[in-house]
Amino acid sequence: MIDLVEEISHLKKQKQATILAHYYQEGEIQELADFTGDSLKLARAATQVETPVIVFCGVHFMAETAKMLNPEKQVLLPDLQAGCSLADSCPANKLARFQEMLRENGRKLHTVTYINSSAAVKALSDWIVTSGNAEEIIRRVPAEYEILFAPDRHLGQYLQEVTGRKMILWNGSCMVHEIFSVGDLLKVKKQMPRALTIAHPECPANIREHSDFVGGTEGMLKYVGGFKEPMDFLVATEANMMWQLESKFSRHRYHPVPGITCACNKCPHMARNTLEKLRDCLAAGRPEITWQPEFGKAREVLQRSLLN
Ligand code: 13P
Ligand code: SF4
Repeated sequence: MIDLVEEISHLKKQKQATILAHYYQEGEIQELADFTGDSLKLARAATQVETPVIVFCGVHFMAETAKMLNPEKQVLLPDLQAGCSLADSCPANKLARFQEMLRENGRKLHTVTYINSSAAVKALSDWIVTSGNAEEIIRRVPAEYEILFAPDRHLGQYLQEVTGRKMILWNGSCMVHEIFSVGDLLKVKKQMPRALTIAHPECPANIREHSDFVGGTEGMLKYVGGFKEPMDFLVATEANMMWQLESKFSRHRYHPVPGITCACNKCPHMARNTLEKLRDCLAAGRPEITWQPEFGKAREVLQRSLLN
């Protein structure tokens, strides 16, 4: 393991690469990264990278976003199969047909799409949001337009609640956040009545309504960091987030909210990236995200939504 870490550090210098890692990566990967963050922070960080190579330790849509915002850079993803159940739930041809049907029925629409989506879906959208900027973007959509929100129905429902803006919701969900057990959450809350519950807005309403704080991963860090005295937090998001919480705010104790059938609140897509694959992709210069025709249009939407 020490050899592997040294090998990666050596290759990183030799290949002039910058490593970006999402908070849902294993701690050993986050530890090696030049930047860690949520989707918004990493997309913005990708535009500040000075080296010619970016290795994105996250899932496919994140690396694709980094490439779209940096056409001239080589963007590597340790495992090209690292997908996302949310992105998969919204194929571009289905979204295009649905938009067409709504427009044929005389509906005036803006499509607001979660960043957890393919480039082709982004290209069909008016706005791209992350958990970090969604509320702000929803408030920017002129009132005379209806909002079609894709693909996460739970995040969409949450945004309806906080902004009061009615939306047409695509029926997608995240396989990790969908399976938290409200029964187990209530049991743990009974055992630890002083603990505070923090939940990602990708969680269903029954989890969110029993939470003290709802927000994306960056928002969770900010919230927890505001408590100066040691506290107990029940965490309803991907399990690796606890590594980041523990390393930034070690004065607190963190407890995962269990899943319905098991403690399987790990994202299997994120878990495809390993130190070995990180080493191999640095050494070989692949797998690489290559420029696709739809990236141009998607890039415009991304820049307008995330960088302005
Ligand atoms: P954020 O880290 O942007 O909150 O996103 C969570 C997520 O599910 C990423 O796939
Ligand atoms: Fe997609 Fe959920 Fe995994 Fe995030 S945690 S990459 S939303 S499946």
